[in-house]
Amino acid sequence: MSNLARLFPLLDDVQLPDALPYAQMSEWELQFLYLLGRHHLTGADALVELGSGGGGSTYALALGLRENPRFDEGTGRLHAYDFFRVGKGTFASEKFFTSGAAPEDGNSFLDDFQTRLEPFLPFLEIHAGDIWRTSDPDDRTPIEFLHIDIAKTARVFRCVAERFLPRLRPGAVVLHQDFASPRLPWLHHSTGALLPYIEIAGPPIRSTLAFEVTRPLPEDVLRRIAEDAYTVDEKLELISAVQERVDRDHTGKVPFRPVLELAKAYVAHYDGQSERAWKIAEPLTTDAYLAETRADHFAQLRKAYEADRPAPSPAAPESRLRRLVRRAVRR
Ligand SMILES: C[S@@+](CC[C@H](N)C(=O)[O-])C[C@H]1O[C@@H](n2cnc3c(N)ncnc32)[C@H](O)[C@@H]1O
Repeated sequence: MSNLARLFPLLDDVQLPDALPYAQMSEWELQFLYLLGRHHLTGADALVELGSGGGGSTYALALGLRENPRFDEGTGRLHAYDFFRVGKGTFASEKFFTSGAAPEDGNSFLDDFQTRLEPFLPFLEIHAGDIWRTSDPDDRTPIEFLHIDIAKTARVFRCVAERFLPRLRPGAVVLHQDFASPRLPWLHHSTGALLPYIEIAGPPIRSTLAFEVTRPLPEDVLRRIAEDAYTVDEKLELISAVQERVDRDHTGKVPFRPVLELAKAYVAHYDGQSERAWKIAEPLTTDAYLAETRADHFAQLRKAYEADRPAPSPAAPESRLRRLVRRAVRR
């Protein structure tokens, strides 16, 4: 049994305060964050949350830390990274404002975040802005806990992979939020590449996969992940390896095997291989969970496939430049 597996039976008994700030994750995921803070983490090395949003997830973790006798508020540090503002490309929601909407004269919810997290500010270090700007490329200090709820684009994942994953040592814990999102296949194939060096805690908790680092992460593996150097075929194999370890989530709602199969289609799609993507995705349209929850994904992949199919008429062939532009726009 992994060190983290002992937290799962405790999930049902966690009672979080009613006044917890709005969070985009489920109650179960918040409870797991609380349990990690309360029973597992020590604060001896940095605790890092990437993508704190309005602070719901930060609050649950910080509450657990406060109740943990091993955590010293004088020396332990919880780092919170986020834009702390809404706007195009931020992936932040107006629900992160206390009023539920951005005021007319501003787009930052940093003050709201600080007010909500007030009891924990003494051990909270806030990094507001684009993570590429607010993180230090030369920081090599070890990380004990990494909560990744920020890697919604390949660009941001690269920052996570370059600047945070190399700071994980054996014993460190990682949570991947949105692991049930097929559109974020970098979460899945990077986890596949790390499998020899990690232990998956147990079934995912809704959309969150938890793992513990058990062996030093080799530099060349970290570099290949950060540089996105795996081929499409390699990425598909890496995702298959994850499929062998991960099936239904803890609550029984999310069937990860088909979800990860659809993530493979996105690997091909992002590589411009629309026919291959649709060939992977089409048989999944009969999966009840995916049909209900990912209809927009199928529509996107089918549309790309149909747009790329050669026209039946003998019209002039599409120029290479035009094809490249169309693919770039689709990304
Ligand atoms: C899914 S939300 C986080 C939700 C939060 N953990 C919760 O439980 O409610 C993702 C967050 O990532 C942040 N984010 C995305 N890209 C970012 C970037 N490049 N730099 C800083 N923050 C970023 C957004 O501002 C957004 O608040």
